[in-house]
Amino acid sequence: MKNILVTGGAGFIGSAFVRHMVTTYPEYNFVCYDKLTYAGNIDNLLPVSDEENYRFERGDVADRASVRRVLQQYAIDTIVNFAAESHVDRSILDPDAFIHTDVVGVYILLDEGRKHGIGRFCQVSTDEVYGDIDEGLSLEDDRFLPNSPYAASKASGELMARAYCVTYGMDTVITRGSNTYGPYQYPEKLIPFFTTEAIDDRPLPLYGDGRQIRDWLYVDDHARGVDRVLHAGESGEAYNLAGENQRYNLEITRRILEILGKPQSLIRFVPDREGHDRRYAMSAAKARALGWRLTFDFEAGLEATINWYRENEWWWRKIKTGDYLDYYKHQYAERLESAQR
Ligand code: NAD
Ligand code: DAU
Repeated sequence: MKNILVTGGAGFIGSAFVRHMVTTYPEYNFVCYDKLTYAGNIDNLLPVSDEENYRFERGDVADRASVRRVLQQYAIDTIVNFAAESHVDRSILDPDAFIHTDVVGVYILLDEGRKHGIGRFCQVSTDEVYGDIDEGLSLEDDRFLPNSPYAASKASGELMARAYCVTYGMDTVITRGSNTYGPYQYPEKLIPFFTTEAIDDRPLPLYGDGRQIRDWLYVDDHARGVDRVLHAGESGEAYNLAGENQRYNLEITRRILEILGKPQSLIRFVPDREGHDRRYAMSAAKARALGWRLTFDFEAGLEATINWYRENEWWWRKIKTGDYLDYYKHQYAERLESAQR
């Protein structure tokens, strides 16, 4: 491993991975390849922009010619694919871009990677491929039951990686992360959305009864988990990166308001997300056996995250304009009209 292509590295988790890897491994070269969609943000990479072992190339993972050029130009031997459309609500409004990036894009990366003769290919996936589980913990060999267009697109990407491993002998590994939070997360996802809305004393639209359960993982622990699987994972295997920290959405929302010193009356119970999964929960035993350890406690991680949004308004205020406001209106205006306190 010498020249690593990190696709989707300008997004939330991809940029945390790039920031971690560029400083931890000065002996490797990193090329971040990203389309810079609404969720991609070059500001996320400012901390490494002057590093000698880091380059940025703008491009689409589904653009075969562009992918080929970058693989050749930088003599890439390893790919870590974070590139995705990642927001469930947007996949319900319009699945098109999800098929383009999360299905076709993964296929193009695998196919061009194979022809170029790369070594390891790491596909970053999600606990959502298992679907809703009532009780217990999902294990890596459990069946896939994806419920949203987003989850189905991620499951498809994984299956293609598996097929390239079995059929062509490609060296693939897969990570399945749980709900991730931390600095630099686009403010459409629960924690940064509610934090930035609450800072401005605006209502927080909680779906359904707010009793859905997610398993929360701090972004730097997620990035280190991908690093561990990349270096130590067995070819053809998948690894759950679980936060082992299950919380109700309502509990998190209440805590965000408490930390910010804002009134609980900002909470609005709005009509539910269609097909909304009630609970995700995975076992992290297999990744732990590779030596991966969680280092962030949720309470401390949440406070650090909220403080980051408090102190970095320059980062998120410019995002919450233009197209963001159109999306907000589309997703929430009607819901908030029929909201209950
Ligand atoms: P994000 O939406 O913040 O970032 C996605 C990045 O991919 C952006 O920089 C975007 O510009 C880029 N991108 C999108 N389409 C592209 C294309 N066609 N070509 C090149 N680049 C493109 O996402 P995230 O939250 O950082 O998630 C990263 C990965 O981790 C995704 O694969 C996601 O499915 C997975 N994941 C996310 C979470 C989570 O809680 N956020 C949890 C588990 C797994
Ligand atoms: O589980 C891993 C997944 O976590 C990742 O694969 C996805 O990329 C990531 O977006 C995330 O998906 P979720 O749908 O769980 O995340 P989101 O932040 O959108 O929602 C978290 C929970 O909060 C979910 O139960 C829906 C609820 N929610 C979310 C929003 C945005 C609300 O109640 N109101 C909201 O406005």
